[in-house]
Amino acid sequence: MSARNFVKLLVCISIITLLIVVGGCKNKTETSTTTTSGTTTTTTTSGTTTTTTTSGTTTTTTTSGTTTTTKTTTTTTATSPERQAWQGSAHAASYVVSSAGTTNECAPCHSPLDWYPTDKSTFPQSCAVCLAAIPLGTPPVVSKADYQSIGCQICHVVDPYPNGQLTTQVAWLNSLLYWYSNNVYEAVSNNTELCRKCHTNQGTYLFGIDLGSSSHTSKQCTDCHDPHSLQASCTQCHATATLSTANHIASHANVDCWACHDASGLTVGPVGSSVQGEWSTLRTIVVGGVNITGRYVSHNLQKQVSCTRCHYAGNPWGLKTH
Ligand code: HEC
Ligand code: HEC
Ligand code: HEC
Ligand code: HEC
Ligand code: HEC
Ligand code: HEC
Ligand code: HEC
Repeated sequence: MSARNFVKLLVCISIITLLIVVGGCKNKTETSTTTTSGTTTTTTTSGTTTTTTTSGTTTTTTTSGTTTTTKTTTTTTATSPERQAWQGSAHAASYVVSSAGTTNECAPCHSPLDWYPTDKSTFPQSCAVCLAAIPLGTPPVVSKADYQSIGCQICHVVDPYPNGQLTTQVAWLNSLLYWYSNNVYEAVSNNTELCRKCHTNQGTYLFGIDLGSSSHTSKQCTDCHDPHSLQASCTQCHATATLSTANHIASHANVDCWACHDASGLTVGPVGSSVQGEWSTLRTIVVGGVNITGRYVSHNLQKQVSCTRCHYAGNPWGLKTH
């Protein structure tokens, strides 16, 4: 049993003892006693669509107050398109280590299920039991192989009954609250509010997305981004053929739209060492004590473009002035 599960068990026991009902506890062993004679289709926590055919045999065992129902089933699995899309995304491969060699500081956003509390004062006051039971100490460094990344259950409510089914309902699993109950979800009023739980500025983590004051202000993150593959492109709405040819010349094929249309005054330039390669808005941020400079997609855009932002006298890339 992992440290986290052990603590959760302690918390569960304490909660039951004190008769404080705060929702479900991890490793809850109640399972559904529904017996179906036909075919049941369930989407499980892992996102795999499981088609369960119940043959009608139901065995119910009761061990020290816990009811376990075992069914005789034939199971076939198929990967859902959402899971396939997610698997190739940055959310499925979010492993990071801080300059101090730890994963915990980064976990609330990079791997919420691996997060380990180090400061009791951040817990809700109502959770007196958790405060007593959680042993603060040096959080474990989670290895890449065990890292849970940003899985389905972070953004989708998992219905604990009958057996942890993933629902399409969108909500946020707050890692802080998850410590004392894995079924506590925070409601979000729209998809953007969910994305902004992590894509936000928090202390030195500057991951907020500024949609500026142009026509895009009212757009949802998911109007442009697929929530699973995370892919987005400007031309999915502004088809190249609809753009003015005078302002959109072939010589700029490697210049990203946002490098010209950025309204936030970011640095612009080639992403790599080659002037012939991709040009984008660039940014330097400090993450966990390390400076990271690179391609950064400005979301704060405007129609107006200044040619001299790149084509200025004495520019380091040898671009002509016009
Ligand atoms: C508040 C939430 C949050 C915390 C805490 C956080 N990150 Fe991130 N991190 C993000 C988000 C969101 C992105 C993706 C942002 C983007 O690409 O604009 C990201 C991206 C990154 C990237 C990729 C940057 C790139 O351009 O490729 C690295 C590296 C990174 N984080 C490291 C860390 C480390 C190390 C820690 C802990 C010391 C940490 N982060 C803590 C939210 C967070
Ligand atoms: C970062 C958050 C996030 C993660 C992680 C995530 N989803 Fe979603 N998912 C969403 C959002 C947001 C929507 C709603 C999209 C919309 O409004 O059109 C959604 C919609 C869905 C839908 C409904 C699609 C439809 O067309 O109605 C399914 C099914 C789904 N997700 C499955 C999954 C599975 C399986 C996983 C894990 C492999 C997963 N999601 C991971 C955010 C997420
Ligand atoms: C639990 C925190 C969390 C939530 C919620 C979340 N993200 Fe992320 N997202 C991250 C982190 C962390 C990264 C950086 C992963 C990495 O590269 O290490 C990231 C990366 C991304 C990227 C960069 C992809 C790339 O290839 O560089 C996009 C785009 C993105 N997220 C969009 C979204 C959208 C859209 C939503 C809402 C539907 C969302 N995210 C919700 C934490 C989150
Ligand atoms: C989901 C659809 C969608 C996507 C994707 C999208 N836009 Fe737009 N954009 C619009 C709409 C709608 C308008 C307002 C009507 C118009 O001018 O076409 C707009 C307006 C604009 C304008 C004119 C701004 C103004 O205030 O007059 C620019 C420039 C622009 N978009 C650039 C971009 C760039 C660059 C990207 C990629 C980063 C992008 N758009 C992605 C829908 C989108
Ligand atoms: C080299 C700089 C540059 C690049 C790269 C660029 N644009 Fe533009 N764009 C302009 C200029 C200049 C205008 C005209 C601005 C004005 O009228 O004030 C313009 C105008 C627009 C407009 C207003 C309608 C129109 O067609 O004139 C939209 C929408 C737009 N751009 C979207 C995009 C998108 C999407 C991309 C990427 C596919 C892109 N731009 C790439 C320079 C650029
Ligand atoms: C108008 C369309 C549009 C909207 C709205 C939008 N994005 Fe993006 N976003 C894009 C495009 C286009 C890219 C560039 C994709 C690529 O790499 O080619 C992008 C890139 C990103 C990246 C990668 C950043 C990087 O520097 O590599 C992150 C993270 C991101 N978006 C998060 C968000 C979040 C979170 C929201 C909502 C708050 C959001 N986006 C809203 C169009 C949009
Ligand atoms: C974000 C940087 C950037 C902006 C802003 C920009 N350009 Fe360029 N421009 C480039 C790059 C990069 C090239 C390609 C250079 C190469 O391939 O050698 C280029 C090439 C050109 C060329 C063809 C080569 C030459 O110099 O004769 C013309 C013409 C040009 N740009 C005109 C403009 C005009 C007009 C504007 C303003 C509407 C503009 N550019 C805005 C980066 C930019």
